[in-house]
Amino acid sequence: MKAVVLVGGFGTRLRPLTVTTPKQMLSVVDRPMIEYVVSTLKRGGVSEVTLALGYKEDLFRASYPDAVCGGVSLSYAVEPEPLDTAGAVRFAADTVGIDEPFLVVNGDVLTDIDVRSLWDRHREIGAQATIALTRVQDPSRFGVVPTDAQGKVLGFVEKPSRDEAPTNWINAGIYVLEPEILGRIARGRRVSIEREVFPSVVAENGLWAVKSEAYWIDIGTPSTYVQAQLDLIDGVRGPAMTAVAAEARVDEDAEVERSVVMEGATVAVRAVIRDSIIMQSAVIEEDASVDGSVIGPGAHIGRGAKVTRMSIVGDRVSVGAGRLVDGSKIPSSD
Ligand code: GDD
Ligand code: MG
Repeated sequence: MKAVVLVGGFGTRLRPLTVTTPKQMLSVVDRPMIEYVVSTLKRGGVSEVTLALGYKEDLFRASYPDAVCGGVSLSYAVEPEPLDTAGAVRFAADTVGIDEPFLVVNGDVLTDIDVRSLWDRHREIGAQATIALTRVQDPSRFGVVPTDAQGKVLGFVEKPSRDEAPTNWINAGIYVLEPEILGRIARGRRVSIEREVFPSVVAENGLWAVKSEAYWIDIGTPSTYVQAQLDLIDGVRGPAMTAVAAEARVDEDAEVERSVVMEGATVAVRAVIRDSIIMQSAVIEEDASVDGSVIGPGAHIGRGAKVTRMSIVGDRVSVGAGRLVDGSKIPSSD
């Protein structure tokens, strides 16, 4: 099985972290996000992955110089300019020569959805495309997908307003596509799979879906980026992962509660860290507090400073002693 993984977005909702690091290369507890995505694919039987990208492609290559990621062989399809979700799939398929059914996944989804059973169901139905669905509380920031009892998709509405969403079942960002789908994607311009391709396949009764109750989270926003990591250390997805890296230094009189402290980070005496992510080599000085926030790689939080309410401090940014950062991103992106 071959898979195309979409990793070419700008990660704007995770700025300022994504100014230096593409979203899928941001660490999640102890390794880059992309490695979780590849593991899920590998478990389902995928042996070749093509990364469809453009934005900061060099950082992917630098991390996987031997073109192997999570035990799977990698190839790259580098778009000359962002072609959007379907344009990127076509470009990647042209680049590596895909002419058989293949998987496509959004690179910012962490999930235990069984891609093998999605694949098998797709073959059984003989659909043009089969997509995995997951259920969420607020469908308005996703692709909303009503189906009939057999799983035939009746409509595909990308990001409807809250009161217009016909169901809570949404596009989980994992698809099996027949190669014929590629022929409907124009070359050389932006084409959205959600807004253009899927609605046209629905109109021909060719789009099917499989519902899944498995763990699923899109970590493209600050709160879900934090949540996904707390889930891993809380053991929500299997054995709990270690929250504080062996190579981190946490003073014995610091308080670290339900938080991730990545390698090389320092948490000084009487600092208090709660429900937060302290990234590689960040320094939290004495008496500082971090609550429900993300401290980027190499950032410095001065003595007695307070960072709270889903703030994001960018890499190598310094927050002065005693300062308050409340619900904001620094530096701000606008
Ligand atoms: N190569 C490439 N080129 N990749 C892209 C481009 C592009 O131009 N634009 C976006 N991507 C990648 C992103 O990096 C990400 O991995 C994936 O495509 C999806 O983009 P997001 O920006 O994260 O989309 P979203 O989260 O708002 O919505 C999508 O995902 C939801 C599920 O997580 C849609 O597919 C929704 O329908 C879906 O419900
Ligand atoms: Mg996303």
